[in-house]
Amino acid sequence: MLRFKSNVSLINYNTFHINALAKLFTNFCSAAELIQILGSMPDNSRLLVIGGGSNILLTEDFDGLVLKNEIPGIEIVSEDEKFIYVKAGAGVNWHHLVMYCVENNFGGVENLSLIPGNVGASPMQNIGAYGVEIKDVFHRLEAIRLADKKAIAFSTEDCEFGYRESVFKKKFKGQFIICNVTYKLRKTPILNTSYGAINAELKKFSGKDLSIKVVSDAVINIRQSKLPDPSELGNAGSFFKNPEVNKSDLEKLKKLAPDVPFFSIDENKYKVPAGWLIEQCGWKGFRKGDAGCYEKQALVLVNYGGASGKEIFELSEVILQSVFAKFQIHLEREINVI
Ligand code: FAD
Ligand code: EPU
Repeated sequence: MLRFKSNVSLINYNTFHINALAKLFTNFCSAAELIQILGSMPDNSRLLVIGGGSNILLTEDFDGLVLKNEIPGIEIVSEDEKFIYVKAGAGVNWHHLVMYCVENNFGGVENLSLIPGNVGASPMQNIGAYGVEIKDVFHRLEAIRLADKKAIAFSTEDCEFGYRESVFKKKFKGQFIICNVTYKLRKTPILNTSYGAINAELKKFSGKDLSIKVVSDAVINIRQSKLPDPSELGNAGSFFKNPEVNKSDLEKLKKLAPDVPFFSIDENKYKVPAGWLIEQCGWKGFRKGDAGCYEKQALVLVNYGGASGKEIFELSEVILQSVFAKFQIHLEREINVI
């Protein structure tokens, strides 16, 4: 017997704490349950699948069915000489999975500690932090194709991962619901401490042997020092992506802003920190009503309590425009605007 709730407030299902309503709402705990729910809906029904709601901005009530993914379970599915393959249900909390790997000394996800959200969304935008992305540890996933309710497996290649991108945000947008993800983790971890802030933080741990636990603790400390805790202040992490520019655009930018920081990706590609561009435009710490730009990290927009999704979106729009006016750089939103 399927049970849908009507007119459910989503305030506790999104980390911006936007009070939008779902016309219909239900959860599912297995692929079979999901298929049953989909079968009961008219074709072309509007659907929104959510995990932790930490990468969405709800700009209006959702006039369709919100599906909360709660597929549980973590299991070791195979191993070889170097790797251990861990499969997790899409509803597993991401940081919980990272802690499981750290405790068991399975290497690869420690730099991704404390990222909010669930396993099912981790491939959506190829989550990344401190020099590591999901694509580095991804093995395969299984997803239900909405068109025919069939389970389809995706390899790393199939996912077409990029910086905060995957096939699920592009050509297959809205066409699949991810049910489980298998990660390929190292039995003998290779520590990745090349990201500047980690090395500085690790100095505080001198005396302790370097391990994935120490790297994970260092990442947690850095994150807690600069990112707002969504349980205290509504936010969805970085609101925009860091723009990638070619050499000639970088030269033009340097003429406008000689001290602009940048990171080389390859010979002709550079990443410019959007947080710096936004801060230079004077937005850091800005607040209008309950919508604001976080005082410690300009790339993070925040809800001080009663902001609507539209107000946050409008603030993001004026920020985009001012960055373009000052630097001729188009920022792209990272979060999913619903
Ligand atoms: P949701 O917000 O629930 O969903 C995100 C999108 O994926 C939506 O479009 C949704 O429809 C879709 N989706 C969700 N689950 C599924 C599924 N099972 N199948 C198909 N589609 C699905 N991200 C980073 O990459 N790096 C960071 O360092 C980082 N730091 C953050 C810090 C803070 C404080 C916050 C609040 C967010 C941060 N994020 C970061 C963003 C966010 O945590 C990630 O994008 C995370 O993967 C979102 O997971 P979620 O379950 O909350 O997804
Ligand atoms: N900066 C400023 N002012 C600010 C913020 C940043 O000048 O207010 C400049 C500084 O020069 C700083 C640089 O930006 O050195 C980089 O800042 P930070 O290390 O905080 O990282 P970020 O580029 O702002 C990215 C990701 C984060 C991820 C961190 C760590 C994106 C869009 N964001 O942020 O991911 O955790 O690096 O790897 O790529 C997320 O996606 O939600 C997210 C939080």
